Amino acid sequence: MAHLAIIGTGYVGLTTGACLAHLGHDVVCADIDEEKVAGLSRGEVSIVEEGLGDLVLEGLANGRLQFVVGALEAVSDCEAAFLCVPTPQGGDGSVDLSFVEAAAAEMAEAMPPAALIVNKSTVPVGSTQVVERVMQRTDVKVVSNPEFLREGSAVRDFLFPDRIVLGSDDQEAAEKVASFYDDIDAPILITDPASAETIKYASNAFLATKLSFVNALAAVCEGVGADVNDVVKGLGYDRRIGHQYLQPGPGWGGSCFPKDTMALLHIAESGGYDFRFLGGVIAVNEEQFNRVADKVSKAVGGDLSGRTVAVWGLTFKAGTDDMRDSPSLSVIDRLLADGATVRAFDPTVATHRGGLDERVAVGSDPLVVCKGADVVVVLTEWDEFADIDPAEVATLMAGRRVVDTRNLLDRDAWAGHGFDYHGIGR
Ligand SMILES: NC(=O)c1ccc[n+]([C@@H]2O[C@H](COP(=O)([O-])OP(=O)(O)OC[C@H]3O[C@@H](n4cnc5c(N)ncnc54)[C@H](O)[C@@H]3O)[C@@H](O)[C@H]2O)c1
Repeated sequence: MAHLAIIGTGYVGLTTGACLAHLGHDVVCADIDEEKVAGLSRGEVSIVEEGLGDLVLEGLANGRLQFVVGALEAVSDCEAAFLCVPTPQGGDGSVDLSFVEAAAAEMAEAMPPAALIVNKSTVPVGSTQVVERVMQRTDVKVVSNPEFLREGSAVRDFLFPDRIVLGSDDQEAAEKVASFYDDIDAPILITDPASAETIKYASNAFLATKLSFVNALAAVCEGVGADVNDVVKGLGYDRRIGHQYLQPGPGWGGSCFPKDTMALLHIAESGGYDFRFLGGVIAVNEEQFNRVADKVSKAVGGDLSGRTVAVWGLTFKAGTDDMRDSPSLSVIDRLLADGATVRAFDPTVATHRGGLDERVAVGSDPLVVCKGADVVVVLTEWDEFADIDPAEVATLMAGRRVVDTRNLLDRDAWAGHGFDYHGIGR
């Protein structure tokens, strides 16, 4: 079992640290956020992620998991340090590597001889050399190890991944990192750093492409009177296509797809290729936010000014509390710009408001926000919304209109209670 350090305890770092400790390694996790470290040391996990709290408690109890402030403190006797720090979008669409560089600089002198840096942050081609340049340590090798976990199922995805990708020009270093995952049953692909880094961006861009494709297809279905739910069912039975990531919605978002698709556009450009196709995927997504806002406006007769909209769902997907670049925020901004009053409910959003406009009142209950509303709009696919009785909602609202951007509700049941139901692509 290895001594490992994790730098950054966000969605990726905390999951990585807790899972590696669960697999039997000795893990020290570092963050610069002192409050977060204090909370984690007491076993308090501030993010919503199924199973993560239990793994943190398990690691603290058996002594295999520790939390410290600052990378310096974490790396002194590690065999490898995993970089799990943010890589936000820079002003021109390129990737801002300042967190990666700052963490590498902090660790440079304290890394034990011949230890490894494992880069789990999503970084563009060439970042392995950037870290090496900052470290100025010829004995410390850098291995790219992109992470593919999904928020909402991060622990499961980490422990049962589809694949593990390692990128290094040093076979021995890559094999050492592979050995940390010995107890995970998944294909391991060892390649060069540029290919490993490209695989991560290609995966996210491809998934975003599927979602934009199905949203565009939903628009076609609306135009010709087809039902996108049935179309997708029929499409997905083709094993070359599959059913996953073919659910229409309000547009895609979250902490990764928007920045990673923009980054790949930028990376392609720097490599001399104009990736217009991917530009189209991003444009279809922007269009989808407008299409949803138009749908809401049409549902109330074409003018949102003076209307009250009840929104169900703020997070970018169900199963998480993450609102970073959530499609809900993009749609809400458009509704507000058109003059609507917006009230919202989300099961995981109470005090933290992410990037939510301050004009939006957040309610404690899905029914409370419907009181006197003209239309209710489902933006996140939380199962509990499907269980709400339309009869009860009908008694509270000023108008009986519902825009269901996830095709989640029972259309016939809502229509049966007098609701004017608008789904996506049907
Ligand atoms: N969130 C996802 O679903 C996901 C999935 C795959 C890959 N990624 C990639 O993983 C990386 C991390 O993403 P995330 O969502 O976990 O980010 P996050 O914002 O949730 O967490 C990052 C953490 O790093 C800490 N940090 C920043 N600088 C530090 C430093 N010098 N030393 C110690 N800690 C430091 C921050 O305080 C924060 O707690 C990004 O590159 C992202 O693109 C994210």
